[in-house]
Amino acid sequence: MERFPYPDDALILAPLSGYTDLPYRRAARAGGCRYAFTEMVDAASLAHARKRSEGLLLRGAEETFLGVQLVGADHEFLKRAVDVLNEYEFSLLDFNLGCPVPKVARKGAGAELGRHREAALACFALLAERSRHRLSAKIRILDPGDPEPTVELARGLAALGACAITVHGRVKEAFYSGPVAFHVIRAVREALPEVQVIANGGVTGLEKYDQIRRETGCRAVMLARGAMGNPWLFRELTEREAFLPPTLREWRALVEEHVAGMVRLYGEESAMRISRKILHDYFRGRGFHSEVRAKISFLSTMEEFRSFLDCAVAAHAESYWNSPNAAPGAERRLRWEEI
Ligand SMILES: Cc1cc2nc3c(=O)[nH]c(=O)nc-3n(C[C@H](O)[C@H](O)[C@H](O)COP(=O)(O)O)c2cc1C
Repeated sequence: MERFPYPDDALILAPLSGYTDLPYRRAARAGGCRYAFTEMVDAASLAHARKRSEGLLLRGAEETFLGVQLVGADHEFLKRAVDVLNEYEFSLLDFNLGCPVPKVARKGAGAELGRHREAALACFALLAERSRHRLSAKIRILDPGDPEPTVELARGLAALGACAITVHGRVKEAFYSGPVAFHVIRAVREALPEVQVIANGGVTGLEKYDQIRRETGCRAVMLARGAMGNPWLFRELTEREAFLPPTLREWRALVEEHVAGMVRLYGEESAMRISRKILHDYFRGRGFHSEVRAKISFLSTMEEFRSFLDCAVAAHAESYWNSPNAAPGAERRLRWEEI
């Protein structure tokens, strides 16, 4: 077995609650993603209502690397959840110590647990004892002014057997915005050469990708919001200057397949409802009129969706091709093609 779970320059799709289901990952993989995670799975839900959480554990036959992410703080639930996960095949079991949302924090889990090192390590020790999967953890920095508490948490996780640790360079209170404390991620990487440290936070394009790698010294990077609606980001960061953005037709085909995958998984009614936020992401920054985008919220059948896509593509703003949006520096682009 390799010492580290990912190759040096791996680009990893983050676990994203409410997003990274199988159709989402398939879209990301079509854009060049090779390493991905399920949405986070709550230990109590897995222990109590296994059937309802099982959908989150679906793995496509083509998914050569898929990690599962577990969140929780209650030892009994964690044990039972690990027993369930032991029946499945995953490339990694990742422990969530970074989620800031109140629903999770109230239970003392996620980022709240990450702030209590002894309690966090006790949970991780339990996972290490019981899980048959390789273990990793995803943490947030604890103090942008002092790397030591974050390094200490990571050191404890490494001592218990974590082979990789993703460090999101923002504190719990910052949620998902604001500067990323590169120096704290760097301190963790320098202190722990025995684990693979993955840098996370704010990567939306080549410039920020180069910056996070340069400033943290990490080679592996995790992408989250930058890849929302832009699965081509994986290829863009890998191919760099040689990257060709999708044409309108390629963009359309991927969006349609993503939603069709959701319909197959959830049924038409649910899929149309939950795909709205995903469609808004796909339409962002690619030159569609706001009146076109406003229609997304009213789609209720696949047939409506297909004719909406036809209209959206036909009405795609001509001005886009002359605007700075189509310029090479823009984060989301389309490639011109005569239709
Ligand atoms: C909608 C949404 C859902 C998320 N769900 C999870 C999750 O389930 N598990 C997790 O570890 N992080 C989750 N995150 C955090 C991301 O994985 C990532 O750490 C964070 O967005 C910072 O990266 P970014 O600046 O590139 O977006 C979520 C973030 C967002 C915006």
